[in-house]
Amino acid sequence: MEESAPDRARENDVVVVTPGAPAPTSGRTGGAPDHATDTAPDHATGTAPDHATGTASTEVLEPTDFDTMRVGYGLHDRLDEADLADGWLPLFTAWLDEAGRRGVREPNAMVLGTVEDGRPSTRTVLCKGADEEGVMFFTTTTSRKGAQLAATGFASVTFPWLVAERQVHMEGPCHRMSREDSLAYWRTRPRGSQVAAWASEQSRPVGSVARLEALYEEARERFAGDEEVPMPDRWGGYRLSPERVEFWQGGRDRFHDRVECRLEDGRWVVSRLQP
Ligand SMILES: Cc1cc2nc3c(=O)[nH]c(=O)nc-3n(C[C@H](O)[C@H](O)[C@H](O)COP(=O)(O)O)c2cc1C
Repeated sequence: MEESAPDRARENDVVVVTPGAPAPTSGRTGGAPDHATDTAPDHATGTAPDHATGTASTEVLEPTDFDTMRVGYGLHDRLDEADLADGWLPLFTAWLDEAGRRGVREPNAMVLGTVEDGRPSTRTVLCKGADEEGVMFFTTTTSRKGAQLAATGFASVTFPWLVAERQVHMEGPCHRMSREDSLAYWRTRPRGSQVAAWASEQSRPVGSVARLEALYEEARERFAGDEEVPMPDRWGGYRLSPERVEFWQGGRDRFHDRVECRLEDGRWVVSRLQP
């Protein structure tokens, strides 16, 4: 579909869609652009087991059928506080690896919580590294989350490994990584993702799909002759350094395991919490 004159006039404006009105159609012509072909491996196999019945679940639940949306938990033996004797990192990495083996697609996906004027907001980002100092992720620093992090310096993350009946929460200070460390990761990104980081002023409105595609194309052409795409100043990594880490795993009869590590006077204090 060609971009219409009104579309161009609305560039970078908010498009108001009236509820019930037909959805606007995509302005994309031709095949999917390069950036749709990133490096996503094909994990789309495997069926989640239904632990309430012990059988593989093939039933598709109606989206609004909340009454039937109930699975039982009980994959794991009780979590042992002794597993946290060496801090949170060994158990976290063991659970992360196991979540992947149990079929969690993108087990490094984490829900990042930030706050603005006492109002929380969340979104998913990818954890791109974990060590004693915390967990790392990369984003546009001028995005909504970036502004909130600049204002407060604190964040939370949740790894929701539902198929594995586990989740891990972390809370603590969250600060930008050095440009050098961000650059080291930037260089590992596929070129298409690098171009997208230049094309997108993340979290800002855009007038139309056609305008969005044009922004990508402009950025692609801008660096077409360059061997490497430079890292934009507005892009970089953050490290959340947890002061509290909670390990949760599902238990029978909703009598779950919860064990938290809390940093007190420079040492980790481990407590079991009621479910
Ligand atoms: C599985 C998944 C992974 C994502 N990973 C990232 C990421 O690593 N960095 C990022 O900036 N956005 C990522 N996003 C998009 C974010 O959820 C979000 O839409 C974007 O960062 C803008 O958020 P903000 O407007 O709150 O700043 C991911 C989304 C999904 C569903």
